[in-house]
Amino acid sequence: MKYWTKLSHAEQDEIITKALADNIDYKQNTSLGIPASRLDPTVFYEQAPFLKDAPLLRAYIQNPNHIGCHTLGDSELFFRGTQKLERELIELISVDIFKAEPLSCDGYVASGGTEANIQAIWMYRNLFMHKYDAQLNEIAILSSAHTHYSIAKASNLLNLVSYSVPVDDKTMEILPDQLGETINIAKDHGIKYFIVIANLGTTMFGSIDSPSLYAETLSNHGVLFKIHIDGAFGGFIYPFVDHESKINFSDPNISSITLDAHKMLQAPYGTGIFIARKGQLENVYTREASYINGMDITLSGSRSGANAIAVWMILHSYGSYGWLEKINKLIYRTDWCCNELNKLGVTYYRHPKMNIITIPVRYITTELAHEYGLVPDTHEEAPNWYKIVVMDHVELHHLQKFITELGNSLSTNTSKLAITNNPA
Ligand SMILES: Cc1ncc(COP(=O)(O)O)c(C=O)c1O
Repeated sequence: MKYWTKLSHAEQDEIITKALADNIDYKQNTSLGIPASRLDPTVFYEQAPFLKDAPLLRAYIQNPNHIGCHTLGDSELFFRGTQKLERELIELISVDIFKAEPLSCDGYVASGGTEANIQAIWMYRNLFMHKYDAQLNEIAILSSAHTHYSIAKASNLLNLVSYSVPVDDKTMEILPDQLGETINIAKDHGIKYFIVIANLGTTMFGSIDSPSLYAETLSNHGVLFKIHIDGAFGGFIYPFVDHESKINFSDPNISSITLDAHKMLQAPYGTGIFIARKGQLENVYTREASYINGMDITLSGSRSGANAIAVWMILHSYGSYGWLEKINKLIYRTDWCCNELNKLGVTYYRHPKMNIITIPVRYITTELAHEYGLVPDTHEEAPNWYKIVVMDHVELHHLQKFITELGNSLSTNTSKLAITNNPA
C-alpha cells in the first residue's frame, strides 16, 4: 500500500483541522462575492463543546463546496485545504485499491453511483465524438441484462441506444455467444463505438461481469470501445476478497470505475466515487462554467467537501488491514449462511467472493420475506428472487434466526419441501 495507512483519531483531527484552516474563514476574511457561507449558526450551533473533538462535524458546519474536479487543472482557492484531502482520497482508491500508477487518474466524490455511471457514459460519448468524429447514432451502451437502472437513465439523458446482453440463469455470467450476437445486431444498426458497463457486483445478485470477455469480443469485431466498471456495490468488497483480481487499472482496457462509499463503506449519502484514467475527463469540460476557477468537468456542480472528508476518515480509521478484516468478517457470515442453506437443500445464487445471497422465491413465504426485510427483484409484479445482503448490521444471530424459521416454514409446507428436491 502506498497511501492507505491507519491513522489515530488525533492524527486525523490534526490533518482535518489544518485542511479546514486552509479553507476560507468567512468570519476572518472579507469575501463579498462568494455565494456560499458556513451553515446557518442559529440552527447549527458552532460553539457546542463536543465539536472540539469532532472534525467531521466541524467540516459540515464550515460547509466547504468542492465544486469542480480537483485532480486536474486549477480549483477554487477558497476551499483548497479540503480539496487536498479529496485529491488524496481519489489517489488512495485509484492506486491502493485499483492498482493504478501513481497520479494517473482523475476523479471526484459524486452524489452517488448513479451520477458516477452517468458521468462515465457522458465522458465516453463526448470522447468518441471529439476524437473520432462519431455521430450520436453510431455510439451505443453495452451491458448485461442485470445492469443497474442508472444505465437506462444515462441512455435516456444522453440520447444513446443501449444493448443488453443476456446472462446464464445459473451462473449469472454473460453468455459469450449472446454477446457476439448482440454486437452483430448493433453493428447492423450502424453502431461503431461501444461504451461498456461491466458490473463489479450486480445489484440483485452480486455477480461479476468479465471485462476481458467484453474486450476480447469487441476487439474481434474490430470496433472501438471503452470499458467502465460499475463497482457501486462491489468496489469496496471484491478487490479485498479476490486477491488475484484483474478488474482494476492494471488491465489497460479498463478506463474508469464507479464506487459507492455510502454502500459498503457506510459513509453518509452523497459519496459516490468516480475515477477515470487521466486524459479523458476533459471531454466533458463545460466552457460556460467560466465563473468557477478551474475546470468544471463534473455532472454535480456544487457538492459537499465534508462528504469527501467522511470517506477519507473511514478509510484511514480502518487502514488497509482493518478493512480487509472487516470484509472477511462479512464473507465469513455469508459463507455460514450459504452452508446452512445447503443443509436445508435450498438452492440460491451467490458469487463466492461477494456478500449477496439471492434465493428463488419458491422457498420464501411472503411473511418470511417481510419479517426479515428480504428485498425482491421486482415490486411491479410477482418476484422471482429475494436477496440477503450481508452488511455490517446483518449478524450471525440474525441469519441463524432466519435459517431456523426458513427450515420450519419449509417443513410445514409440503409443496415447498417437494420443490427443494429440484435443482434451482
Ligand atoms: C451496481 C449499482 N450501480 C449503481 C447503483 C446506483 O447507486 P446510487 O443509488 O448511489 O446512485 C447501484 C445502487 O444500488 C448499484 O447497485
